[in-house]
Amino acid sequence: MTAPDSSGTVAVRQDEAFARELDRADPLAHLRSKFEIPRACDVGASNVGSSELCVYLTGNSLGCMPKAAREAVISELDDWARLGVEGHIHARNPWLPYHEVFRHSGARLVGGRAGEVVMMNQLTVNLHLLMVSFYQPTAQRYKIMIEDQAFPSDSYAVSTQARFHAKAAGFDPAAAVVRLKPREGEWTLRTDDILQAIEQHGGSTALVMLGGVNYLTSQWFDMAAITSAAKKKGCTVGWDLAHAAGNVPLELHDWDVDFAAWCSYKYLNSGPGAVAGAFVHQQHGDRTDLPRFAGWWGNDPSDRFVMRPDFVPRPGADGWQLSNPPILAMAPLRASLELFDSVGMNVLREKSLKLTRYMEQLIDAIPGNAAGQRIEIITPRDPARRGCALSLIVKHDPRSAAEWLKKAGVVCDFREPNVIRAAPVPMYSSFRDVWRFVSVLASQHVSG
Ligand SMILES: Cc1ncc(COP(=O)(O)O)c(C=O)c1O
Repeated sequence: MTAPDSSGTVAVRQDEAFARELDRADPLAHLRSKFEIPRACDVGASNVGSSELCVYLTGNSLGCMPKAAREAVISELDDWARLGVEGHIHARNPWLPYHEVFRHSGARLVGGRAGEVVMMNQLTVNLHLLMVSFYQPTAQRYKIMIEDQAFPSDSYAVSTQARFHAKAAGFDPAAAVVRLKPREGEWTLRTDDILQAIEQHGGSTALVMLGGVNYLTSQWFDMAAITSAAKKKGCTVGWDLAHAAGNVPLELHDWDVDFAAWCSYKYLNSGPGAVAGAFVHQQHGDRTDLPRFAGWWGNDPSDRFVMRPDFVPRPGADGWQLSNPPILAMAPLRASLELFDSVGMNVLREKSLKLTRYMEQLIDAIPGNAAGQRIEIITPRDPARRGCALSLIVKHDPRSAAEWLKKAGVVCDFREPNVIRAAPVPMYSSFRDVWRFVSVLASQHVSG
């Protein structure tokens, strides 16, 4: 066997035994046992044994449950039962400063400094709260640049922010959102085209806010280059990291990103509707001149209970909090980030590159698919420009292909009209999972 090298290149064989060999050689294989992988029969598979686990490739939607999450939640429930209100001070993880548990682990995840990251709210809420501070349009500089294939919630957020300001600032909200489109016949954006758009619109753009890894294509934008170019033009730069946090290594502080937000239910495996994250660069953390919507949890904790009416923000990202932390929702996040900390993003990324490259090579090797005639990969071919997921256009009867996968116990994601997204996640996906996914997909056209 030839093991994958660090760029993810591997001389593949197409048989299952080879996948199993790769799993045996995988230094992170033990992490899988720390997760609950659903049984195939519970998630829509037919004709499979009752104990067979599914092939779970939808961590880009909802990550699998870390086993430690259950214990973390139960421990908070026990403390609540035992201590009642005293749990705010005397719980094993006291509830009053609970969000501080993530001060370092949250920052490490996105390349922030301590104090630049806070876990709070939901992703779209955080985008809005951060735009309150960082989208300050004028009649001359009012545009918001996003990718045309932005997740709908981001489109709604930026267009309603523009409308909110338009009258007072004196601009036409219909002209405010600049959507970056791929070239005709292409699925992903070329970095040069993005830089060109920044050059063209930069002078009238207040905010550039793309998804670090695009939700549909898994394209990982050149965040450093885009941030730098936009800032040179005087724009503020924010990133939606829903598909990037826990997926790719990030250096938000060093890249000079102004703000970012992400959810924790995808690659961060923290459960449905999990508490989201927010990053505010150190250079803005203490600014009292920025408009912000305030709540008592963003207030200086030393006089929080003095109950004065005037708001004194605590320094850093913490000052953007509104409400007291939802402990039961944050407990799984604690369990999950401990796992991330025990491995580190760079080590996870090494395995991720190999898993995704393996999937790509198996798809390319499907008989009759050398030029993507049956299944076209629309995710960038350059490993440096993509996250773990591959997005595939199934040329023949894509809905049946999605059904076929489900029946065979492969859980991945179907986006209308014809895109299947499959995310091998280095924390818990195996090379055999990847092999099984591709063999089921390939067999559909033969048997289905
Ligand atoms: C890129 C992106 N942005 C925003 C959202 C919305 O997240 P939330 O429901 O946590 O606000 C999602 C959800 O999947 C997403 O993928």
